[in-house]
Amino acid sequence: MDYVNFGIIGCGTAAGFHILGVKNQPEVKLKFVAAHDVDEKNLKRFTRRHKITAYTELENFLQSDEFEAVLITVPHYLHAPITKQAADAGKHVLCEKPMAPTLEECDTMIQATKEAGVKFMIAENHRFLPAHQYIKKVLVKGILGDVYLGRTYEGAFCESSQFLDPNTWNFRFDTGGGGVVADQGVHKFSILNWFLGEVDYAQCWCGKAFNSPEIKGEDNAIILLHYKSGAMIDVSVSSTTIHPLNNNLELHGTIGTLLEDHSWNDPIKIFSSHNEAEKKGQYYIPSEYFEHGPYPKYYTISARYEDTHFAECILNGEKPEFTPEQAKNAVAVVLLAYLSAKNGRITYMDELMEIYNTIGTQNVLENLADVIHHNYNQIHWS
Ligand SMILES: NC(=O)c1ccc[n+]([C@@H]2O[C@H](COP(=O)([O-])OP(=O)(O)OC[C@H]3O[C@@H](n4cnc5c(N)ncnc54)[C@H](O)[C@@H]3O)[C@@H](O)[C@H]2O)c1
Repeated sequence: MDYVNFGIIGCGTAAGFHILGVKNQPEVKLKFVAAHDVDEKNLKRFTRRHKITAYTELENFLQSDEFEAVLITVPHYLHAPITKQAADAGKHVLCEKPMAPTLEECDTMIQATKEAGVKFMIAENHRFLPAHQYIKKVLVKGILGDVYLGRTYEGAFCESSQFLDPNTWNFRFDTGGGGVVADQGVHKFSILNWFLGEVDYAQCWCGKAFNSPEIKGEDNAIILLHYKSGAMIDVSVSSTTIHPLNNNLELHGTIGTLLEDHSWNDPIKIFSSHNEAEKKGQYYIPSEYFEHGPYPKYYTISARYEDTHFAECILNGEKPEFTPEQAKNAVAVVLLAYLSAKNGRITYMDELMEIYNTIGTQNVLENLADVIHHNYNQIHWS
């Protein structure tokens, strides 16, 4: 076997990115061959367009021997139950982010895939973006020294119906596990934890720039993170910004600074006095080549690297580089941010862990609507 066949569960936006990522890439180690969706119209449209087999029933789909792995791209509250069903059927599981709304659901996913003996990875594309892999190398080499300050941003203009229509699953507390912090913040926490280690405490503000229904979460948020390493990071996430989807990151260390912006063709600039810095006394763009392109290219590039990595782990019997435990830790930072918004103060990870060990982390998601700032009262959308 020199490639892995995948079936897709959920034929929406994310599924499209994954398929596009491997289109016309003969060297990749995977093929998407089948799909299932509860919405038959979506299923038919998607499978016709991509010329793959359609399965209307999940049980028949999971019994199929057309593929050995599944990609799960469904609303967040379904990640845990569908991962368990797929693992029980013996399929390797690649599931979209965030792993799940609560830590207990993450545990269910870890346990089910371990017991079934299948490979399991959360599809956190930011972990596999070549620019981020390069930044990790820069940090490990010590080009910035000790990072003590940083800020990062993701701005995405989502369809306003995703907020305003109470029937869409996105950004709802019950089906999405919260708003933009759960949906987009989790990308940031996954890479920041990888770069900087463990979060010690956090403070978060959640706001709504749109007057969306009560059951919908925040569409903008600012989260301040303090890492055990001593680094302080300011994370801003928005689903309402009026520009093509973008991410940026700024890291300041004891001997250098790194700037990253996904909308630049060369996404990284470094200023450093390290002896391996390519230029001294000025910013430089690293000479090492890595694949990148402004949105939507960085989406399909990162999806391709991520899906290929997972397929190679299946083929070579290796452990995925992004572990389920790391994905769960990113969910823990989402919940810590929400807990801090509810507390209206700096909140320690130990406080979240106390909840996890006693009443359960679903409790953090209860009554979150009460603490969201109604910023739309002062905002006039034209
Ligand atoms: N990595 C990224 O940058 C990125 C981007 C977009 C979405 N996502 C993630 O992908 C996942 C899906 O998001 P989306 O934007 O594609 O959502 P979407 O609403 O566009 O698509 C979800 C699909 O799942 C189907 N579905 C719902 N319930 C189902 C069930 N029980 N069984 C089978 N299918 C079911 C829906 O009919 C729909 O076609 C989420 O986890 C989201 O956070 C990730």
